[in-house]
Amino acid sequence: MAFLAFWAWALVGCLAAAALAQDSNLSTLYPPLWDESPEQFSDYRVENGKYIIDPWVFTDRMGMYRILLNQTAKYFAKFAPENEQNILWGLPLQHGWQYRSGRLADPTRRTDCGYYPGDTLCISVDSWWADINYYLSVPPFLAAIDSGILNISSTQIKILPPPEDEAKFCYDVSGCQSFVPEIMDGWRAFFQYMQSPSSDFEGLLKYLWDAHTSSLDYPVSVFVDSRNNLWAHFSFLFLMCVHVYISCM
Ligand SMILES: *[C@@H]1O[C@H](CO)[C@@H](O)[C@H](O)[C@H]1NC(C)=O
Ligand SMILES: *[C@@H]1O[C@H](CO)[C@@H](O)[C@H](O)[C@H]1NC(C)=O
Ligand SMILES: *[C@@H]1O[C@H](CO)[C@@H](O)[C@H](O)[C@H]1NC(C)=O
Repeated sequence: MAFLAFWAWALVGCLAAAALAQDSNLSTLYPPLWDESPEQFSDYRVENGKYIIDPWVFTDRMGMYRILLNQTAKYFAKFAPENEQNILWGLPLQHGWQYRSGRLADPTRRTDCGYYPGDTLCISVDSWWADINYYLSVPPFLAAIDSGILNISSTQIKILPPPEDEAKFCYDVSGCQSFVPEIMDGWRAFFQYMQSPSSDFEGLLKYLWDAHTSSLDYPVSVFVDSRNNLWAHFSFLFLMCVHVYISCM
């Protein structure tokens, strides 16, 4: 029964999204602040010869997705000309939804992190959504670097830690490889498959699905928020839905 309910929900969600998309035009489908986010490494701050990326600032985290989408476009060109078939779109869209709905703000309200007019771009380390999304943004980005897709060495970038709970996250290729090996391996497998000339759409979806699933095991076990358990499933569905929707466009 639970399984059936799962798919019933998935279907309802997908139909709603498809209806929504027909009403709007493509430009409104872009994630919030997409144009304000870095599109290349040189858009980030440079310090001691390294690009400084602060994943606790919304545009910095979104920039990692934007660079990833930009640099992987050529691998999806065989499916559609304008990168619209890039299945990685699901990630920034999901993150944009989290931002727009206020889920990345400090839920304790002890700080003004994520609130207007204080610090709207701030991503709170106390946000369960932000912590889960960290493992869907930083490790994939580092795995892409390690797979040679972003044409940069991991020693040329520096990922900043959050103001607290530093030990619950990882910050570079070797650190993440030893901290969350399954996540790094899952994304590396995806990027390697993507680069193979014989990659097909179904195969890409399968590798992405595996990488995405592996990215949730660790954070879901560490960051507990009982209020949000239901939403975790919904979020998951939302991402799948975006994939399915984009692949049907
Ligand atoms: C699409 O939406 C944007 C933003 O709302 C608007 O500026 C633009 O004119 C729309 N384009 C079309 C073709 O409707
Ligand atoms: C990638 O980024 C460069 C530099 O900002 C831009 O000129 C190019 O159009 C982008 N390509 C895609 C496919 O978005
Ligand atoms: C890769 O980076 C090097 C050095 O930053 C640059 O000279 C080269 O043009 C880049 N190659 C591509 C394909 O972007």
